[in-house]
Amino acid sequence: MPPYYEDLSPGTGRRPPRAAFASDAGRLDLSGTWLFRLSPTAEGAPLDFLGPGDPGPGFTELPVPSHWVLHGHGTPRYTNTAYPFPIDPPHVPDENPTGDHRLVFHLPAGWRGPGSVLRFEGVDSCFRVWLNGRSLGTSKGSRLPAEFDAGAALRPGANVLAVRVHRWSSGSYLEDQDMWWLPGIFREVTLLERPEGGIGDFFVHAGFDPTTGRGTLRVDTDAPALLTVPELGVADLPPGRELVLPAVEPWTAETPRRYEARLATPAECVTLHLGFRTVSIEGGLLRVNGTPLLLRGVNRHEHDPDHGRALSPATMREDLLLMKRHNVNAVRTSHYPPHPAFLDLCDELGMWVVDECDIETHGFIHAGWRGNPADDPAWEPMLLDRMRRMVERDKNHPSVIVWSLGNESHHGRNFGVLAEWTRARDPGRPLHYERDRSYRHSDFYSLMYAPVAEVERIGRREEEAPPETAGDPALEERRRALPFLLCEYAHAMGNGPGSLAAYQRAFEAHPRLQGGFVWEWIDHGFRRRTADGREYFAYGGDFGDHPHGGNFCIDGLVFPDRTPSPGLTELKKVFQPLAMELSGDRLRLTNRHAFADLSHLRLSWTLEDEGVPVAGGGLPAPAVPPGQAAEVPMPRLPATAGEGLLTVRAELAADQPWAPAGHEVAWEQFPVSPAPAAAPAPPSAGARRRGGEVLLGGAVFDARTGLLRALGPLRLRGPRLDVWRAPTDNDRGMGPHSVARDWRRAGLDRMEHRTEAVEPGPGGLRVHTRVAAAGFERALRVRYSWSAHGDALRLAVHVLPEGPWEELPLPRLGVGLELPAEFGHVRWFGRGPGEAYPDSSKAARVGLFDSSVAGLQTPYVVPQENGHRAEVRWAEFRGPCRLRVEGEGHFGFTARRWTAADLDAAAHPTDLVERDRLFVNLDHAQHGLGSASCGPGPLPEHRLEPAETRFALLFRALPAESAG
Ligand code: GAL
Repeated sequence: MPPYYEDLSPGTGRRPPRAAFASDAGRLDLSGTWLFRLSPTAEGAPLDFLGPGDPGPGFTELPVPSHWVLHGHGTPRYTNTAYPFPIDPPHVPDENPTGDHRLVFHLPAGWRGPGSVLRFEGVDSCFRVWLNGRSLGTSKGSRLPAEFDAGAALRPGANVLAVRVHRWSSGSYLEDQDMWWLPGIFREVTLLERPEGGIGDFFVHAGFDPTTGRGTLRVDTDAPALLTVPELGVADLPPGRELVLPAVEPWTAETPRRYEARLATPAECVTLHLGFRTVSIEGGLLRVNGTPLLLRGVNRHEHDPDHGRALSPATMREDLLLMKRHNVNAVRTSHYPPHPAFLDLCDELGMWVVDECDIETHGFIHAGWRGNPADDPAWEPMLLDRMRRMVERDKNHPSVIVWSLGNESHHGRNFGVLAEWTRARDPGRPLHYERDRSYRHSDFYSLMYAPVAEVERIGRREEEAPPETAGDPALEERRRALPFLLCEYAHAMGNGPGSLAAYQRAFEAHPRLQGGFVWEWIDHGFRRRTADGREYFAYGGDFGDHPHGGNFCIDGLVFPDRTPSPGLTELKKVFQPLAMELSGDRLRLTNRHAFADLSHLRLSWTLEDEGVPVAGGGLPAPAVPPGQAAEVPMPRLPATAGEGLLTVRAELAADQPWAPAGHEVAWEQFPVSPAPAAAPAPPSAGARRRGGEVLLGGAVFDARTGLLRALGPLRLRGPRLDVWRAPTDNDRGMGPHSVARDWRRAGLDRMEHRTEAVEPGPGGLRVHTRVAAAGFERALRVRYSWSAHGDALRLAVHVLPEGPWEELPLPRLGVGLELPAEFGHVRWFGRGPGEAYPDSSKAARVGLFDSSVAGLQTPYVVPQENGHRAEVRWAEFRGPCRLRVEGEGHFGFTARRWTAADLDAAAHPTDLVERDRLFVNLDHAQHGLGSASCGPGPLPEHRLEPAETRFALLFRALPAESAG
């Protein structure tokens, strides 16, 4: 007989799964300080801690819930697809860290003991439990509850609870999600009073008919419990009887209307919140209350930089508030059922939820899928157990609209079993499973990381049949009729993702595309400190864990401490539920909500002249019904002297449970008058040689290299061509999609400059250079044409690619220069306040901005290109004097105290050491971001192909005192 942690039983001695609920029966939260001892193996751990006596030696204190590896016992381990142990199912290595946990608790006086149940919300990965020395049972399935009868073992007064937890078990083969392996009792343990005549389980069915406005209500329960909904006049509805309510307000994620209800027997009263809603798939579309949804979603793992998957209620709420404030309306609980309190919050605040089962067998890909538990009947009980525990626990949440059978487990007959059971148990929710491309067990046609063009083809219903349905016309016909979801897209690793706007345009253009879930919500980084106390976030390998998936777990829209990344800011803009277009003096408002009108928003406008507000006011906000558009007249705008931009904002008119009044939901910017064309002044001086220098107006150049050395009082190291950027994670890409590898192979990180000619003349200075990498003939020929115009120095750059560049895009194209270290501030007129790249620029509005150099940097967990400010009209770099740069046309800039090579070499931000100057890049263009760290690279229009290019910049050194 294999030990329980290696057998194929999901557990022993457990009670049947049931709904999570709160009642007036006693509940003793056993969270707190427990005793803990770690043994290196399961076999070698003594069973000496079960009784009332002193536990054996070696016990220390540990908070519960927690993961012991985050409290100094062993280390966290991160792998993506690989199992951290040999593929040898259902066996695990002898080295199987085993944590013994022990708590002495006191039963409160008056506790109704006999029916008591001990409930574990989540234990990773397998455990056995004893109460007062009596074995209650075992369980696997880390992110699912397990309950045991405790009554017979319970005593008045002191009770000894002993729990032995194994890091690895047969269950681990089903838990190969791309995340940290974090053992422990990481969710609450409670003792529940189960009074005789109380309520064991119930299933509320609260439907809504949009055509009549009627609600239907039925509760199925194992007790003779009666349902009361005071607000609806429902009193004592018996189990199994359906009541039709003439008028209810429906629950939706946009309007999460809930009714408080009581389900009661004489022995127990449960408080619940009803949300009336009906989920259906009709006409090939996922609908709630008859209306098709567009899911603006994110994939959410549970992660906290200090506590792993042991999340506090405050952290769960923070996640939801952040999501709501960033216009996210849907969550896929990748890749396991979340803490039940998270779903309560989704019900309360409004969120569409795809609840995903704790099943992923991804690592079998490395064994050619041989032995995949998803396809092995011997594993059926374990898989089905997980599905049942999820569905039973979460079935009463209105926010849960789809059940997902699991993630990336290839295909197999067991998914058929799960689907069949779930359909019978809960016909009210459709099923999702992506990885079996026949979709025979899924009610969605779902993909991950499909490029925009493919998504558009699907939208037009022009996609090719997957090989899995070939030869089975009925199956293919079924697939074609399914609604489409991208269960993962836009890999938010490091700087990115790009193309969010392009995906959204596709979703909005084709009804079949019902949106998707960005991968992913949060960077799974752990807070650590350097020896000298500086904080950073650790990723795979930083704990000496091996094998490991490196920083592939750092792919979220928020940093590990939940600071929104630029990617989330972009997502908020792209997801905004209100579209605005200006045509003449009319503003067209399109309400992209599915259920809410616009009456919760107030509108205002501002006119800016060269970034300075000159006029503004409120606008009437018509109550545009969901999905419809209306026009409002705009006031007559005063003329602007310079570039005029109109910004319209929509903000919450009143406090909402998820954000205060004034929170900005949507905005749009409209150019109303172009920048006046500046007449090019004729050159005011010629260039002449003086010793080793060339003088031109107030500028001094190196006569040999042609580089600018001084402009008036300002010493600098002149602008010269720069094409390199520290590769982003998306540049580094995955597998064959690594543009960074191509760049390095081509030597773009080590371009050399050869000055061919330095030609002073009456019109100015011309410098000819050839920029190329060692070992290659391909080059960029660069002509710098400098001219003086009063106090301004003009640089016109001409770049001509030479030789075979083939398909190789450039990282960036522009010039780099170095300023003295005292330069620490930048003021600019262009996109901001945040960074922007060609395919991630919607969130940055055009305005006048100011920042310290430090404030320009985005502290990605792994340093990489960041902080680029785009579509800049002018920028002033400020120190003892000001260097003002104006573009003829827009330019972009970065300014940092380290080089691209420094950024590239750093593993953590704490590796970056400030140098003694400021490195400024003035870019004509940058390559897009894309999301090739897992998925497609930038769209063709955002690739920076080498081509003949001209751009010009005007430089002025101005005194500091005239700053303003
Ligand atoms: C998906 C997978 C996720 C994650 C992602 C890449 O294939 O479902 O769990 O690994 O790729 O970050």
